[in-house]
Parts: sequence; structure tokens; C-alpha cells
Amino acid sequence: MKILITGGAGFIGSHVVRLFVNKYPNYTIHNLDKLTYAGNLANLKDIEKKPNYKFIKGDIVDAAFINALFEKENYNAVIHLAAESHVDRSITNPLEFVMTNVIGTVNLLNAAKTLYQLSTSNFKLFYHVSTDEVYGALGETGIFTEETAYDPHSPYSASKAGSDHFVRAYHDTYGLPALISNCSNNYGPNHFPEKLIPLCINNIKNNKPLPIYGKGENVRDWLFVEDHARAIDVIFHNAKVGSTYNIGGHNEWTNINVIRLLCKIMDKKLNRAEGTNEKLITFVKDRAGHDLRYAIDSSKLQNELGWKPSLQFEEGLEKTVDWYLANEAWLNDVTSGNYAKYYEEQYAKR
Ligand code: NAD
Ligand code: DAU
Repeated sequence: MKILITGGAGFIGSHVVRLFVNKYPNYTIHNLDKLTYAGNLANLKDIEKKPNYKFIKGDIVDAAFINALFEKENYNAVIHLAAESHVDRSITNPLEFVMTNVIGTVNLLNAAKTLYQLSTSNFKLFYHVSTDEVYGALGETGIFTEETAYDPHSPYSASKAGSDHFVRAYHDTYGLPALISNCSNNYGPNHFPEKLIPLCINNIKNNKPLPIYGKGENVRDWLFVEDHARAIDVIFHNAKVGSTYNIGGHNEWTNINVIRLLCKIMDKKLNRAEGTNEKLITFVKDRAGHDLRYAIDSSKLQNELGWKPSLQFEEGLEKTVDWYLANEAWLNDVTSGNYAKYYEEQYAKR
């Protein structure tokens, strides 16, 4: 198996690359990443010298580059994670999300289709990694199943919904072997500190305000990132082509309760008096079009393929805090911008 993983230098992608490189020494894993602000090769230091791993710097929006890469490498499968992923950035710059998330995905689909149709190819699967945000927002009750109609509200979720539709269209129209998973909010090591949890870990560490949008009543369903990577492994190897699986932790929390729990954990870890960190909570202007609640029904994945989350949220959050406190250099490099030099220093001259 020669597998192309896109976006492998990002948060979730780096955990997926690590899992596949370590677990399947007979597979060849190519990690294609543009190294935008969200891509950080330091995430993969521990596996970068493994013989079954190769990093390729490139942009999925560049169709000529993508076509040439597929022609040269004759991949057996693609696991597609590369994307612009931050909702707030999509509100200020929607077009970038259309380019990467929609056009970039269609470029990959075209290259995969061309390869699949060659008599000499053994192309087996285009696995598209998507989000629960395509389903829109829930009220106080309800849960997203695989049958829930798409109803995206932010430019980010609209672009992910667009990419999901194209993946299904390539399966239905051209017979491209494809499947999709839609996952809830991930948290864990290597999460870029613009997202709620790592942002607040960094701010608590530095005694800075914790910005909570609106009243903090919005609900997210949190899943530890390594559990998502394990789900991708299980789906990649066992799911029926053409299918869709929801992935989630059955773990709903209001934002304010997530941050209160985080404050408590970090009071202890930083030897601060109980209640110290909570004083940093600051309510700020709400996000435009802020989805009230997400909740994912992952029973199809659990019942059919036997996956389940391995960690309780309290345990996972503590593990995450420990990782950030033990990896100060990673956090400092990311917040200072130094991490961008890693590619030049370690890779560009190779
Ligand atoms: P991320 O922003 O941390 O990483 C994205 C990666 O894609 C980065 O390494 C970046 O350099 C790369 N990239 C961006 N544009 C590119 C381009 N044009 N060409 C090549 N590479 C490019 O994102 P993440 O949080 O790890 O999310 C990964 C995927 O999982 C995304 O598709 C996202 O929609 C999906 N997802 C994320 C979550 C979550 O909670 N973070 C939940 C469900 C689904
Ligand atoms: O649901 C899956 C999605 O989860 C993924 O598809 C996205 O890529 C990922 O970024 C994430 O989207 P969210 O918008 O839910 O994540 P974020 O960490 O940005 O925000 C989580 C919640 O916290 C959300 O309700 C907004 C709120 N928030 C966020 C930030 C950055 C705050 O209150 N303050 C903040 O500073």
C-alpha cells in the first residue's frame, strides 16, 4: 500500500500519519502539506526518519502539481485531511476556504479519478475527512446522524459541505471508490493555539484573559484526537466504499464548563490557589452565526466497526494540559512563529 495523506503536518493529520507509519511498517506513507500557518513539521519529529515515511511540500490547489504527483507515485489510496480549519478565519477570509477546501479537494478527486481509470493502476480508496459542522446547528435536543440533511452556516462549514458533496458526486458519477467520515470537535496534543482549548491553556499559563464568546452556552461534543485517528484507521480498513460514518465522543459540554474544568485542572498543575484561573474568564463579543450546539451519534461506527472512544473528557483534558506544560518549546515556537523555520532547517536542504 502506498498512501497519500494530505494535511499531515496539521493537528489531526500528524496523529493520523504517526499512527499509520508506526502501525503499518509495510505501508509507504507520503505526507503532502503546504505548511500553512497550521502546518508544523515539528509535530512529526519522532517519526520523520522512519523508512516508510516521506514528506512532500505542496499545495492541493495547484492542479498541475497534484496531477504530476499522482502520475509519478501511482498511489493506492488517499486520506484527505488538508484544509483551512478555523471558523473565525473563514469569517474574515471565505475565499481561502473555497480554494483549499473545495477546489483543492476537487483537484485531488480529479487526479485520483484519472489514476483509478488507468488499467495499470490499483487505486482502492479516496477517504475524505470531514466535520460534524456540515449538519448545521442543533437546539437543546437532537443529535446528528449520518442521515441528517446538510445545513452549514459558516463559510468554513459551507466549504467542507461543498467538498463532501463533490466526493459523493465522484463516487456516484465516476465510480471512484470513496468514503467520508464526519467528526466532532477534537482536542489533544499539537492543537494550534487559536482554537478554544489550546488558546485557553496558553493564556492560563501566561495569566492572560480567557475570551469566551457570548455567554459561553454553546455546546460542543469533544473527542480526544488519538481516538479520531484510531477511528480513521478502523474506517479506512473496514468500511464499505461509498459509505459515511459519524465520529464523536458522546461528550457534550458548554464552552463555559469546558473552561471552568480547564481552570480547575490548571490551578492544581500550576500550584495556584483554587479559583485563581477562573478569574481570567472574560466574556467577549459572540462569533457571527455561532452554531448553538453540535452532538454526534456515532453508534453506526461503534456497532458496525467496533470503535469507541478510549478516554473520559476529564482524563483526556488533563493529559492534554500535561502535554502542553511538558512541551513548552513547541508552544513557544508556535506562538513566536519560529516553527516555520523547522522545514528550512531540517528538510529544504535534503
Ligand atoms: P489544521 O488546520 O490543524 O491542519 C490543516 C493542515 O492542512 C495543515 O498542516 C496545513 O498546512 C494543511 N493545508 C492547508 N491548506 C493546504 C493546501 N492548500 N495544500 C496542502 N496542505 C494544506 O486542521 P485539523 O484541525 O487538523 O483538521 C484536519 C481535517 O479534519 C480538516 O479537513 C478538518 O476540516 C477536519 N476536522 C477537524 C476537526 C477538529 O476538531 N479540528 C473535527 C472534524 C474534522
Ligand atoms: O466540530 C468540528 C469542528 O470543530 C472542526 O470542523 C473545526 O475545524 C474545528 O476548528 C472546530 O470548530 P469550532 O468552531 O467548534 O472550534 P473552536 O475551538 O474555534 O471553538 C470551540 C467553541 O468555543 C465554539 O463554540 C466557539 C468558542 N470559542 C472559540 C474561541 C477560539 C470561544 O468562546 N472563544 C474563543 O476564543
